[in-house]
Amino acid sequence: MPQKNEKLGFLTRAVHEGNAVDKDTKAVKRPITMANSYELPYDPTGINWSSAGQNLYTRNGGANQNYLQEKIASFENAQDSIVLASGVAALSGLFFSLLKSGDHVIFSSVTYIAVYRLLNELFNNKFKIETSIVDTSNLQAIKTALKPNTKLIHVETPANPTLSISDIKAISEIARKNGALLSVDNTLASPFNQRPIELGADFSIESLTKYVNGHGDAMGGSISGKKEYLDVIRAQAQVNLGAAISPFNAWLIMRGAATFPLRMKQHNENALETARFLETLDETRFVSYPGLESHRGHAAAKLQMNPGFGGVLSFALKADADAHNRFVSNLRIITSAVSLGHDTSLIAYIGKNDERQYLYPKEFHNGFLRLSVGIEDSKDIIDDIKQALIKTFKT
Ligand SMILES: Cc1ncc(COP(=O)(O)O)c(C=O)c1O
Repeated sequence: MPQKNEKLGFLTRAVHEGNAVDKDTKAVKRPITMANSYELPYDPTGINWSSAGQNLYTRNGGANQNYLQEKIASFENAQDSIVLASGVAALSGLFFSLLKSGDHVIFSSVTYIAVYRLLNELFNNKFKIETSIVDTSNLQAIKTALKPNTKLIHVETPANPTLSISDIKAISEIARKNGALLSVDNTLASPFNQRPIELGADFSIESLTKYVNGHGDAMGGSISGKKEYLDVIRAQAQVNLGAAISPFNAWLIMRGAATFPLRMKQHNENALETARFLETLDETRFVSYPGLESHRGHAAAKLQMNPGFGGVLSFALKADADAHNRFVSNLRIITSAVSLGHDTSLIAYIGKNDERQYLYPKEFHNGFLRLSVGIEDSKDIIDDIKQALIKTFKT
């Protein structure tokens, strides 16, 4: 294993960080430690039974969690990382640990649904935390929404499902000037394309379920940032709320993460090619992908996303809901399913009754498709779309 602090490339770190030859067996991969408790010292009197990050009880911390945390912290270029049971466990853990009654939170008008539910419903109604839903692609709107008690600005960029872009560096400056913290849900970009901590954010959140694992077979989430905050979040979210990841899922994500940068390169390329193809079609009503020059956030995306723009895009056909559903059912390679960032291409039709559509740009109001472009041959993905369109509009 290379020395700590040695400046290694992303590909090398994806393979090596958090892994080592197993001391007992000499296996070239660290094993899965499927134990829920660890041996105590001779005199355990001094142990804080609620302390996190020590091998005591798997909800407090465990071997596979620790290895994965090392890898994620390296990906994010962060002082520390916590890995939890899911992306939502990471989001709720962050909010539960940081916020108290009387605080105010500004959050992006387009976010993963659980953020809306947690902040706008649970935290607002139950814990009297004030919330403002703001189009965070508009810096002036953020400045206008600030209050003396604004504790946190939570941004998702690119945002699921519209792909709207918020300028992380500019928002981090606004947050800092006003004594607020900034958290960024980085799931759609992934730390290969975008590292919020480097851009000034206090926290970067990932649903590891998506690109970092990449194989659609495990769930996990991470929060990365400064140790002083993460120690608190680890104690609260992991130990007391119980959002610990299972050793097996941590191991699966570790395994998936070795090829994460290679997969991301393919996702980036395939999605750009697919978005450009969709834009040329007479059948499409709009295509939203931050890598397209036509995307309203393209300039901001280019400044903070590198080398690519991720694998997710949204589009709609000039057709009704039934034709959209026929199109999806005619696809042969692309699977109709939720989630994103898997090896396989996934598509979901998001119909008119999404209660948050009033918060989305107008073109998203009458139903649209979210496509997570996989790592198959791009020609096969595009050919699949072509044949499904022919079938859809023939019947
Ligand atoms: C942007 C974003 N954040 C968070 C989540 C939640 O992650 P998980 O499903 O791992 O809880 C998702 C899930 O789709 C997501 O798209």
